[in-house]
Amino acid sequence: MSTNASLFERAQRVIPGGVNSPVRAFRAVGGTPRFITRAEGAYMWDAEGARYIDYIGSWGPMILGHGHPEVLEAVQKAALDGFSFGAPTEREVELAEEILKLAPGVEQVRLVSSGTEAGMSAIRLARGYTGRSKLIKFEGCYHGHADALLVKAGSGLATFGHPTSAGVPPEVVQHTLVLEYNNIAQIEEAFATQGAEIACVMIEPIAGNMNFVRASVPFMKRIRELCTQHGALLVFDEVMSGFRVALGSAQSIYAREIPGFQPDMSVFGKVIGGGMPLAAFAASREIMSKLAPLGPVYQAGTLSGNPVATACGLTTLKLIQRPGFFEALSTRTQSLMDGLTQAATQAGVPLVADCQGGMFGFFFADTLPQNYQQVMAKGSGRFNRFFHLMLDRGVYFAPAMYEAGFVSAAHTEQDIADTVAAAAEAFRQL
Ligand SMILES: Cc1ncc(COP(=O)(O)O)c(C=O)c1O
Repeated sequence: MSTNASLFERAQRVIPGGVNSPVRAFRAVGGTPRFITRAEGAYMWDAEGARYIDYIGSWGPMILGHGHPEVLEAVQKAALDGFSFGAPTEREVELAEEILKLAPGVEQVRLVSSGTEAGMSAIRLARGYTGRSKLIKFEGCYHGHADALLVKAGSGLATFGHPTSAGVPPEVVQHTLVLEYNNIAQIEEAFATQGAEIACVMIEPIAGNMNFVRASVPFMKRIRELCTQHGALLVFDEVMSGFRVALGSAQSIYAREIPGFQPDMSVFGKVIGGGMPLAAFAASREIMSKLAPLGPVYQAGTLSGNPVATACGLTTLKLIQRPGFFEALSTRTQSLMDGLTQAATQAGVPLVADCQGGMFGFFFADTLPQNYQQVMAKGSGRFNRFFHLMLDRGVYFAPAMYEAGFVSAAHTEQDIADTVAAAAEAFRQL
């Protein structure tokens, strides 16, 4: 029988690092990645037959849990009708209509195959629409691995960023300005000095790539004002938060707090594909009309709007609209956070947690961090030990402290109770 270790060894011979996406390699936490053989509901099983309560959910998409019968049926039916045609299908129109219904601020949507592709295309469109080159992003937000986005902050606000990856020429990131999340003064200064050149501000409104950090309402309000004042587009990267933190995504949460609030462009992924390769970017008809074939901004894809992926995404989006879905999901996620914090307190371990809808984060700290520097200042030693203690007890959290976690509709009260009981043991051993 193959073990996780033997598979990992074999994988490393033929795949760089043994994985097709780096964080799967467990580099941050050490140890052997689990090779998953199958998943059902809230559980995954590895090559050695061990079962895990899954709090990754494929890094966000599996909001219904694995193998929801109605999704499976739709996917099986679509597959029988054909995998890919390279020609338009009715289901793409249906999915577009469904997304637009749930994201009222946008009028048109283009489907693509990954969040990276969607984010990269959104930036090209923002630049093409405004005729400007510069873009602002925030340290700790991840928008996919397009060259212009693999940037860390420069030495000062006036300087542009440095590539975070080899192979990205400095000239490619010379238009990318990296600012601190939740820092109003910095973004005000950036617009004061370069406002006329900024095409867009791209942000994860609830950041899930530095664990779980919310953009504060005053920060978001100020970004909206500055973008409007200077003619820059506000691009919401909701690849992770979209249809995950609320049915109306994170933008609906900010719209409740800031009258009339809406981003100019939205980027979606993960949940809209329900576990299949599917993502999208969306905006007003005026902005989207700049895209090929209507306009001068080129963008295309052989598998874009794939018929099997759209069947999966469409069924997923329909199911999450059932009455009470998000209320139940939020309650379950909150009960996990409450259980973890109580168990930590009893063990004398400092722990703070936050969550929204089916997305959560926790930190071994006394206060919630507000930006990337504060997240990284917490140190990862305790998290890494906790991760392995939980994995040994059949609970699979993300294998790095700077990743958010996900609860699905398939997680039961018993799953949460079992997780909290395992955590209570783990906290005592930290
Ligand atoms: C907020 C955000 N944007 C973009 C991406 C990139 O998406 P993908 O991995 O589908 O390319 C991710 C991936 O985790 C993400 O979390």
